[in-house]
Formats: sequence, C-alpha cells, structure tokens
Amino acid sequence: SGPRLLGLCGSLRAESLNRKLMLEAARAFDGEFAEASLRLPLFDEDLEAQGIPAEVAALAAAVAGAEAVLFACPEYNKAPPGAVKNALDWLSRLKPNPLRGKPVAIVTAADGRAGGERSQMILRWMLVPHRVEPLAWPEVLVARAGTEFDAEGRLKSERYRAQLAELMGRLRDACR
Ligand code: FNR
Repeated sequence: SGPRLLGLCGSLRAESLNRKLMLEAARAFDGEFAEASLRLPLFDEDLEAQGIPAEVAALAAAVAGAEAVLFACPEYNKAPPGAVKNALDWLSRLKPNPLRGKPVAIVTAADGRAGGERSQMILRWMLVPHRVEPLAWPEVLVARAGTEFDAEGRLKSERYRAQLAELMGRLRDACR
C-alpha cells in the first residue's frame, strides 16, 4: 500500500496531457493513488448558503483522506485554469480546510516551450492561504507536451522521468 496520494488535474478533458503526467507521477510515487474531479459548480456564496454541493463534499473528503496532494496543472493564458482556482475557493470555505498542512507537489505539462512555468509559479502563490507544505524542487515542467508521451501515456524523456521520480520520492518522504 504505502502513503495515500490524491491527484487533482486542472484539465477536465478526457485526453489531458496533464492527466497523463499525473498518472506517471502516481506510478513514481509508489503508494495508493486516487484522482478527485475538479468538475465543480462555480463558487457562489448564494449557492454555498444552500449547502455544500455534493461534488465539493466529495472533493473535500478525498483531500481529507489523502496524506499528500498532487496538482497536475495546465497553463491557460499564462495562469492556472479557472477549475483549479474554483476548487481552491470552495475548499477554503470548509472548516477546517482539508488542504491545511498537506505536503503538495505541483507538475505542469504545456504546449509552450516553458512547460507552463508561469502557471506553476502562480499556483504556488495561490496555495499560500491554504497553508499547505509545497515542495519547492525539483520543478517538473513538461514543455511541448504534445510530443512527450508515447501511445501508452508514458513519458518518453529520461530527463523528465528522472525529475518526476525525484519529486515524487520527496513527496513520499514528506508523508512521514
Ligand atoms: C492553452 N495552451 C497554452 N500553453 C502554454 O504553454 N501557455 C499558455 O498560456 C497556454 N494557454 C492556453 C489557453 C487555453 C484556453 C488553452 C485551451 C490552451 C495550450 C495548452 O498547453 C495545451 O492545450 C495543453 O495540452 C492543455 O493541457 P491538457 O488539457 O492537455 O492537460
């Protein structure tokens, strides 16, 4: 078994490259893995006043049950997608915020040659109010990601696989 890792993919599409990267990271983590969906209603205080939506409650329970959290975050116009910000805003309203104190790793895959670097940096700042323990290194930024995965969804480049293995090894260590 090993520690429990929760994967959150910022892309909602079925063929997401970030989901492929997330699954590669999960294999490198070598523990129990589950993914929770970020397909949530848009945060709205009026909706919140009617009760926490079931999708948000499911996400919160998945986060609470995990020992570590992995964000696989695309870059949309140089920033994380709205789905990620929306999920963080919902979670911030729960008492306690289930993210608090969790070790977190961030990986990004993007078409651009920077591999989603700005999205990753902005996500790090977005996580500050949530009081998580984000790993600073190694940065995993898969550039030109459309050509980096084979037909089985495995990373082709030894360099990226080594970075991912190091990051996930450090995340596993942070669970102790
Ligand atoms: C993109 N893409 C993109 N890529 C990048 O490197 N920098 C960027 O700022 C953007 N902006 C952007 C905006 C929007 C709305 C879309 C749909 C796409 C391309 C992006 O990296 C590519 O589509 C990835 O494959 C998206 O991630 P998933 O869905 O494959 O995980």
